[in-house]
Amino acid sequence: MAEVAIRVRDLCFSWPGGTSVLQSCSLDVPKGEFWMLLGTNGSGKSTLLQLLAGLLLPQAGEIEISGLVGFVFQNPDHQLVMPTVAADVAFGLVEEKLPLDRVRARVREALAAVNLLELQRRPIYALSGGQKQRIAIAGAIARKSEILLLDEPTALLDPDSQLDLVAQVQRLVKSRGLTALWVTHRLEELNYCDGAFLLEQGKVVDRGEPERLKQRLIQQPNEAM
Ligand SMILES: Nc1ncnc2c1ncn2[C@@H]1O[C@H](COP(=O)(O)OP(=O)(O)O)[C@@H](O)[C@H]1O
Ligand SMILES: [Mg+2]
Repeated sequence: MAEVAIRVRDLCFSWPGGTSVLQSCSLDVPKGEFWMLLGTNGSGKSTLLQLLAGLLLPQAGEIEISGLVGFVFQNPDHQLVMPTVAADVAFGLVEEKLPLDRVRARVREALAAVNLLELQRRPIYALSGGQKQRIAIAGAIARKSEILLLDEPTALLDPDSQLDLVAQVQRLVKSRGLTALWVTHRLEELNYCDGAFLLEQGKVVDRGEPERLKQRLIQQPNEAM
């Protein structure tokens, strides 16, 4: 059995006063693999990611995460907080109280990992959407996150930047032994992952081979959108 990086068992969650969002949801993401999470709007994908990141607490069930988690949101403008690229990537290191030369080295290494070292002095406002998402990923890498949770990171990107980003995450997962869980509606992105989950009404109803899930969703598009 492959080592598991994200293990979820019988997870249940309801928002206060709301109906049940996750109902006995279970899944395993193998370490070092890139998995995607599919499901209709409102099926609980974002809620599940927030639970995995520890931003919400479940009412029942278990979550085991073996590694530091980095989160990438749909809209990078909700995530990048500093005026320049290097300052933003360094911002996540503040709590580690590292000497300045170590901070600089970590920032450079993380920016090189997403092929954006040449932009380190660029103001954030002068970046494209795809570059901003790569900066958000660099921030997670600088903090030494081993598990990336990405919630529709390509939703605001044009098709070229979309495929650049998904290919970049695939390369990072393979070259650095990271584990990634990526939420999407865009079936063409399934070509880049190792496997996928289909969430329906708060439960994983299908999992496995990306190509098989893709064919299922091409035939029944209302399960994905
Ligand atoms: N902050 C919140 N407070 C209350 N209800 C929420 C909140 N966020 C999401 N929900 C509800 O939880 C359900 C699942 O939402 P969500 O996890 O965002 O689904 P998805 O990401 O799959 O579209 C929806 O019915 C949504 O209205
Ligand atoms: Mg969502």
